[in-house]
Amino acid sequence: MGRVAGKVALVTGAASGLGRATAIRLAEEGARVMVTDWEDRGGAETVDLIKGAGGEARFRHQDVSSEEEWQATIDEIIATWGRLDVLVNNAAVIIAKSIRDTTLKDWRWQNSIALDGVFLGVKYGCAAMEKSGGGSIINISSIAGIIGLDRSAAYCAAKGGVRLLTKAAAAEFARLKNGVRVNSVHPGVIRTPGVEKTIRKYGGTDKEAKVRASFEAMSPLGELGEPSDIANGVLYLASDESKYMHGAELVIDAGFSAVR
Ligand SMILES: NC(=O)c1ccc[n+]([C@@H]2O[C@H](COP(=O)([O-])OP(=O)(O)OC[C@H]3O[C@@H](n4cnc5c(N)ncnc54)[C@H](O)[C@@H]3O)[C@@H](O)[C@H]2O)c1
Repeated sequence: MGRVAGKVALVTGAASGLGRATAIRLAEEGARVMVTDWEDRGGAETVDLIKGAGGEARFRHQDVSSEEEWQATIDEIIATWGRLDVLVNNAAVIIAKSIRDTTLKDWRWQNSIALDGVFLGVKYGCAAMEKSGGGSIINISSIAGIIGLDRSAAYCAAKGGVRLLTKAAAAEFARLKNGVRVNSVHPGVIRTPGVEKTIRKYGGTDKEAKVRASFEAMSPLGELGEPSDIANGVLYLASDESKYMHGAELVIDAGFSAVR
């Protein structure tokens, strides 16, 4: 208990999956958490789960691709708790299509959320953290930000962009000596509603078994990851235990990207 006690955290895309698990884990360890998402019901449920366990959290509707909503979200955090110490840029969507089938509209939508959304978070989150004397930004990328995956060009481009945006921000913040650390996290295949939905899409068909097998084949340890596997990595980067980590990529993928 208490690994991030006293800190104020913002987790985007926290109505579901990894964002929800991360918000809950940070709250368990003492952070006050602003849960944001464009899905209000799931976001409110995350807050109920945190409060039910004795933690402190609020929900705010936020579309991470909107610059105005980023500014308003940061304003609300400062008005509520007076500071921002931890930002987890987690919200994303995935377009799983071949390049031939990806329209320019698809491409722009993918990047407006998964890359522009992270850029805006880094920009406005950093400005708020500088006023709080520093902080930790954690950008959720993917193994798709390190290696190329078939039928995922737009997603890989966004996640690869997040990886190098993180390193460029790290270089800039080091020059500024602003006390803000920034790192990226690269999950492998984790059992979340998003992943389960993709598998269920082929429910009862041969394709379902194939999709499930292809996901399991991406785990050299044999099983899909659990959201807590990622939440624990984020907790480490959020806490002062990781004070010497900056511009790094934390790969949590059961070894997939190392051994493929
Ligand atoms: N689950 C995995 O296996 C896996 C693997 C690698 C990377 N990731 C990354 O982890 C993060 C979370 O993934 P997940 O599996 O939990 O997905 P998920 O679909 O279960 O949750 C994503 C959340 O983001 C929200 N969201 C989407 N677009 C938004 C927007 N514009 N504004 C605000 N909220 C928005 C959704 O409403 C949802 O609640 C994503 O960045 C994803 O790319 C996941």
